[in-house]
Amino acid sequence: MPFVVFEERFRVGHPEIDRQHAELFDRVNRLHDAMIAGHGRAEVGQVLAFLRHYTVTHFQTEEKFMQESGYGGYARHKAIHDDLTRKVLELEAALEAGSATLSITTMNFLKDWLAHHIGGEDQRLADHLRKPA
Ligand SMILES: [Fe+2]
Ligand SMILES: [Fe+2]
Repeated sequence: MPFVVFEERFRVGHPEIDRQHAELFDRVNRLHDAMIAGHGRAEVGQVLAFLRHYTVTHFQTEEKFMQESGYGGYARHKAIHDDLTRKVLELEAALEAGSATLSITTMNFLKDWLAHHIGGEDQRLADHLRKPA
């Protein structure tokens, strides 16, 4: 049983955004697997970097859609993306420095963040993108 399942309720109805969210879930699962397998700091760090790269790519995609469509919620939505990116970078740095280990609390935070963000901000964006210009 994967840690996070890309259930129907997570679909926002925009093919590219949905595809990227499915990939994000996949990478979160890989991170979770690396954690429970008890992999070392270096390996967990690599999987976390792999997730972070894709997160940044995904956020850029959404922000491009927002700008191209003149989305009114751009500043707020981007600030939320920036906040998560900062948290993930801090976690990476802490893991690297040996001052933190990846915990289930962190994994649950990521899972809850995704569910909350997709159901709220991302759904609002997808609804906006679906509206005829
Ligand atoms: Fe988003
Ligand atoms: Fe998203």
